[in-house]
Amino acid sequence: MGLYAIGDLHLHYQSVLKAPGQLNSRAWKKHEEKLRRNCLKMITDEDTLVLVGDHSWGRRMSECETDLQYICDLPGRKILTRGNHDMFLDAKKTRQLNELYQPRLTFLQDSYETYKEYALVGTKGYTFEGPFYLNRRGQILGWDEEAEKHAIKLVDRELKRLRTSFELAKADGYTKFIMFLHYPPTNILEERSPFTDMAERYGAEQVIYAHCHGESRFYDSIHGEFRGRQYRLVSGDFLRWKPLKLM
Ligand SMILES: [Fe+2]
Ligand SMILES: [Fe+2]
Repeated sequence: MGLYAIGDLHLHYQSVLKAPGQLNSRAWKKHEEKLRRNCLKMITDEDTLVLVGDHSWGRRMSECETDLQYICDLPGRKILTRGNHDMFLDAKKTRQLNELYQPRLTFLQDSYETYKEYALVGTKGYTFEGPFYLNRRGQILGWDEEAEKHAIKLVDRELKRLRTSFELAKADGYTKFIMFLHYPPTNILEERSPFTDMAERYGAEQVIYAHCHGESRFYDSIHGEFRGRQYRLVSGDFLRWKPLKLM
């Protein structure tokens, strides 16, 4: 009975691909076949697989059904959190989607799931991604302050959702947590963030995130041990489409 995670599948069986890089890059070539093969090799129906957002390029349900069916057909119990591109998965539609897909898929939002004695908590998160203004040597001279103001609002909303997830689990007696985000826990400037602080406050042992894909983005945030927690990037191309075993 293992716990696995991966993110950024960006499936597009029924929708228009919005990232042309995905077509040309070797890492993304037939990625859905690679992932399916790896899952069948590694994961059994007793295992849990958490998919941390950017599941589909489809905007409406009618453009995502085949993508979701692909995920249903992977082995194990599947838990899905939201990514910034998951237009079909508006936070308010979580209940409706769960009614439609459970037990094949579980959509996690303002709720928690369990794995052994652990509560699996999470939300999309948010990270201010710039633009940052750089000099010729790549040193940061400044950033878009309007965009930063907007980001602060989104961070607050996501923190509220994450707190709800932690508090519901805590109220049910859980003391061990694994925290899932779609966005990285920090931006490229930060060493700490409200998300790393929350992970510390509740004692999450691991913080799992995705969103950073394409080689130049892999090291935008924390990898490995930081202030007593393990931070792990699980974007699909970073993992070469092999889900990461968390436990
Ligand atoms: Fe993505
Ligand atoms: Fe993303």
